Parts: sequence; C-alpha cells; structure tokens
Amino acid sequence: MAKILVTGGAGYIGSITRYFLEQHGHSVIVADNLSRGHREAVPEKILRVIDLHETDRLTTLLKEEQVEAVIHFAAYIAVGESTQVPELYFSNNVSGSLSLFEAMLSAGVKRLVFSSTAAAYGIPDKVPITEDQTIAPINPYGESKVMTEKILEWLDRYREFRNISLRYFNACGAEPAAGLGELHEPETHLLPLILRAVQTGKPVTVFGTDYPTPDGTCIRDYIHVSDLAEAHVYAVEHLLKGGKSDVFNVGTGHGHSVKEVIAAAEAVTGKKVPQTIGPRREGDPPSLVADSNKLQRALGWRPKRAELEHIVSDAWQFAQKHPHC
Ligand code: UFG
Repeated sequence: MAKILVTGGAGYIGSITRYFLEQHGHSVIVADNLSRGHREAVPEKILRVIDLHETDRLTTLLKEEQVEAVIHFAAYIAVGESTQVPELYFSNNVSGSLSLFEAMLSAGVKRLVFSSTAAAYGIPDKVPITEDQTIAPINPYGESKVMTEKILEWLDRYREFRNISLRYFNACGAEPAAGLGELHEPETHLLPLILRAVQTGKPVTVFGTDYPTPDGTCIRDYIHVSDLAEAHVYAVEHLLKGGKSDVFNVGTGHGHSVKEVIAAAEAVTGKKVPQTIGPRREGDPPSLVADSNKLQRALGWRPKRAELEHIVSDAWQFAQKHPHC
C-alpha cells in the first residue's frame, strides 16, 4: 500500500490507472491542469488542479501528501498537432516533465513511472518491435517522449531517481466497472471514430488500402486500456520494492488491420460501419506490433483482455453512454 501521485489522472489512461491503483489498495492523489482531461473522471476529493510548470506547488503537494511514487501521464498526445506547434509539445511534455522531476527531487521522491510511446521507434526496422530497436521518432510528439526518457536515464545514473518508461502501442477500449473510457476532443484514434460513425452515420475514413499488408490496410497492436493500466500498477510496485530503472514495450504482441477493427466493430454493434476509403495519412508506418516479452518476463504482467472483440465491446458500452449524435 503506497501513496501515489498520478499526473494527468483526469485523462483517458491516467483515470483508468488511478482506478486500478485504488483496486490494488493504493492511495492516490491526482494532479491535472484539466486542459485536456475531464474533471468528472476523478473523484473530487483527490483532484488537485495544478500545471506541471508549477514546480513549487508540486513540491509542496508531494511533501504534504507524503507521496512515495509518481506515475506521470500529463502530456499532449496528438501527433498531427505536434507537427503544427512543436514548441507546445516540447514545452508541455519535456519542460513540464522536467519541472515535475525537479519537484520530486526537492521533495525526496525518487520513483517514477513514465508514459512513453511506440512513436519512439518511428518507422521500425523490424516487427514485432523489441526495446533495443533504433530510436528514431518521426514527429515532435515522439521526440518529446524520447527526450524525456533521456532525462530520466541521466537522473537514474546521477540522482538515484528510479524510473520505468512504458512505451505504449495503441491503447483502446474502456473500463466499464469504473465508467471510464476515451473522450478526446478532437478525436483522432481509429476505434472511437469507428464507433462514432456507427452512432452518427457519418463515415469513418480508412487511411489507405495499398499498404504491403495482407488486406492493404495498416496493422497496429491494439491493447486494452485496462491491461495497459495494470502494467503501470506492476511497474510502480516493482519500483516501490526497490526495483531498478528500465524501459518496456506494452502491447499484446498481435496486430490487427484497420479492416479487422471495422469487422470487429460490426460484429459487436450488429451494425454496418459507414466508411470511405481515403489516401494514406502522412507518417503512418504499415505495421507496428510490440514484442512485450521483456515486460512479461521482468514484471510478470500479462494482457488479460487481448481479444479484439473484448476491447471493442468495452469501448462500445462506453460510447453508448457518451453518444455523439
Ligand atoms: N486510421 C484510419 N482512419 C482514421 C484514424 C486512423 O484509417 O480516421 C488508421 C491509421 O491510419 C492507423 C490506425 O488506424 O493505421 C490507427 O490509427 P490511430 O490514429 O488510432 O493510432 P496511431 O497508430 O496513429 O497512433 C497511436 C497513438 C499515438 C502513438 C502511436 C505510436 O495514438 O499517440 O500510436 O505508434 F504515437
């Protein structure tokens, strides 16, 4: 049982991780500036509205609440936006993270789980992707996460700042037991857009059908957000037990094409998905699939909800309670 600060705990993955931390008996405080998160995703008693750049307020919070470890989600995540305003991504994701790390060092809190991304690999040399593959992000979003991982490596080496970076693949689904799910605005992710198409009748666009994949559409490793959230619980507990710093991919190890996700949505909803075929989206690699064996071996984590139908079904339950009409 530990006292854990979750930054960005009003966001999609942060809010669901907060829920699983509590299920595991931990006591959680959430710090979020609510610029992109949702107040209603956090119990009011544990929410502190703070920006990452407010170093002194973070230091005071960490001390007053006697926080033992931090899970750091607060970041901007839109790849397209990061190519339009890169400075926003470096300011919020890199300088904001550094401010948090400075606050943690001032308060003597030296355990952190960091929300990183498969975007670190850019267009990978080979698939499935292991952690030792070339780091070569192709957009400012991915670069902002890589830069933060680098800072963490140096803090580990010279400040005994123990940290785990989790490189996520495609998080999706929802946690029905907690009433929490994906509510980005604007939404750019495939599955919520497919479900919106079912709800509104406005077609989702399939970005390219001429990729070198079996059905011509891109392949991604779709991981249930609750499996991803549990990986954070394993990681923070590992650090609290004195575990060393490391970097892990978090995915299922299985890829699905855009067409397969659409087929799964049709099976789950019992409705046709209105769709149009569009050109390729800039910067989309044909296939991104995780090799998560390192995480499975080191921390004993397993994805328990890996079937696509399970993921889509939970996302659909959530979407029906938050309709877009
Ligand atoms: N896609 C469509 N139509 C859409 C949206 C997406 O066909 O309207 C396709 C994309 O081309 C891609 C797949 O669906 O092949 C998944 O796209 P998402 O936008 O849902 O996710 P990405 O794989 O592009 O990005 C995700 C995360 C990023 C992270 C990246 C890491 O959202 O934050 O994985 O590889 F950087």
